[in-house]
Amino acid sequence: MTVAGRQIATSVLVIGTGGAGLRAAIELAEQGRDVLLVGKRPVGDAHTTLAAGGINAALGTMDPEDSWQQHAADTLTESYLLADPATVQIVTEGAAESIRDLERFGMTFAREQDGRISQRFFGAHTFRRTAFAGDYTGLELQRTLVKRSTQLAIPILDSAYITRLLVRDNTVFGAYGFDLRDGTRYTIHCDAVILAAGGHTRIWRRTSSRRDENTGDSFRLALEAGGRIRDPELVQFHPSGLIEPEDSAGTLVSEAARGEGGILRNDLGERFMKRYDPDRMELSTRDRVALAAYTEIKQGRGTPRGGVWLDVSHLPRTQIMERLPRVYQTLMDLQLLDITTTPIGIAPTAHYSMGGVWVRPEDHSTDVAGLYAIGEASSGLHGANRLGGNSLIELLVYGRIVGRAAAAYSLGLDAQIRSKAANSAARDEVDEVLYRNGRENVRSLQRALRNAMTEHAGVVRDEPGLRTGLTELDDIERRLSDVGVHPDIAGFQDLTHAFDLKASVIAARATLETALERRETRGCHNRSDYPDLDDRLTVNLVWSGPGQIEHEAIAGIPAEIASRMRAVSADGKLVE
Ligand code: FUM
Repeated sequence: MTVAGRQIATSVLVIGTGGAGLRAAIELAEQGRDVLLVGKRPVGDAHTTLAAGGINAALGTMDPEDSWQQHAADTLTESYLLADPATVQIVTEGAAESIRDLERFGMTFAREQDGRISQRFFGAHTFRRTAFAGDYTGLELQRTLVKRSTQLAIPILDSAYITRLLVRDNTVFGAYGFDLRDGTRYTIHCDAVILAAGGHTRIWRRTSSRRDENTGDSFRLALEAGGRIRDPELVQFHPSGLIEPEDSAGTLVSEAARGEGGILRNDLGERFMKRYDPDRMELSTRDRVALAAYTEIKQGRGTPRGGVWLDVSHLPRTQIMERLPRVYQTLMDLQLLDITTTPIGIAPTAHYSMGGVWVRPEDHSTDVAGLYAIGEASSGLHGANRLGGNSLIELLVYGRIVGRAAAAYSLGLDAQIRSKAANSAARDEVDEVLYRNGRENVRSLQRALRNAMTEHAGVVRDEPGLRTGLTELDDIERRLSDVGVHPDIAGFQDLTHAFDLKASVIAARATLETALERRETRGCHNRSDYPDLDDRLTVNLVWSGPGQIEHEAIAGIPAEIASRMRAVSADGKLVE
């Protein structure tokens, strides 16, 4: 089969059509720079549309005592001291401006009768600081950013799969890929690249990501370009994922359900959070609620389907319809279940990559000149436990910062030297996968990978399990070299799955190796063989390829933030 090629040139290439990519592209366009946004999902249906419950900013509309310093203190406390203090300060201090940006772009927020933006409680926040649009906040955000990018006439190519970043002398000069519909090869030359292609939570079986999203693409692209991955083992399991139907397992039931007063019970009818965090109960942190649910299920107090109950049926029907419309609709669509009368069966679901590509706090530049990473692709804000609502604000704040940084970098370049060898290697790599005609099937290898990660690197981990996971991964990697792909008249999806799998294998190895190295229990990372927090591991783990892990020290916390922090404790954690 002969495939056509297309050369494109721009100043800044943004990879990823979700909120992070869009926000960065908008900043670039507003700065008057040439920008091209590419991605493997339709821009109207990027993963950001699934973000539900809200966006954090200490606006003080409901609780005037709130401040960015308190938001920073909550974020650092709940990260179990693994978040980077500078990153936390940049996000929390810049949050209000980002909300004003959204208002400028026309976003519809839920408001009080007097016009103030409503803010609700999310788990472990000291004050009500989560702004929202029902429980469709991500969808409304994405629509708003798409509308603004249309006004700015930003070119978007949302059927392009990027297989490799083009690099010469540790400096990025473009990217290579193909079109999902007809296989057209793309060689994109540019001054700078912003990687906004999400995280790696689709490598678990039960996940809030849909098929083929968050397959670890950012990790692979960055690593192969010369970047590093920070804390890939720190993966947030959200407490409330659906258990059924099987093909939608893991679909998110927003934390907003608990924020609005939802109650968790085991199958004995006990409000089990009393055992784990009697003060905060259902509004405890995600790591604790997820572990509590996991423990109830493991110890035999779960539902017949292997979950626990989340009940909002005691709330007024109008409150449910106004504040939780998506949860209502999702349960009707998927289970014909009416949440105004009936509890929901839920279990933990892989939800968010808190680690990601290593970046500098000030501008999210990486180890590779001209390469930036943002959103779930990046790292630094969340540490070992992310506060709900912090991901949307992060992508807005850093979208603005990184857009400006990439614009300045591009403007400051005297020349951009390319490499024919890098171009050829990228082309050969796609040819090799496309024409190999191997006997292994990608989908079954993806399934094997998800099973391995679920069995051996889930909510609770231990050394024998992680080592078994690595052995299974070796086998999957060996079989990956004999994968056959079969593009057909419908498109080149099979080729994308093969590249997704390559990325997932790298992300899985990074996760398993760093999970082994983190011999402690902290936040989302529960080691049954190391049940305590170990102060010597108050470091970030930076992975730069198989067997290569550095311990990276974390900077000190400014006094104005430290004075507002609560003690970090693991009480109520591992009770298996
Ligand atoms: O539960 C939720 O609505 C998720 C929010 C988040 O992950 O920030």
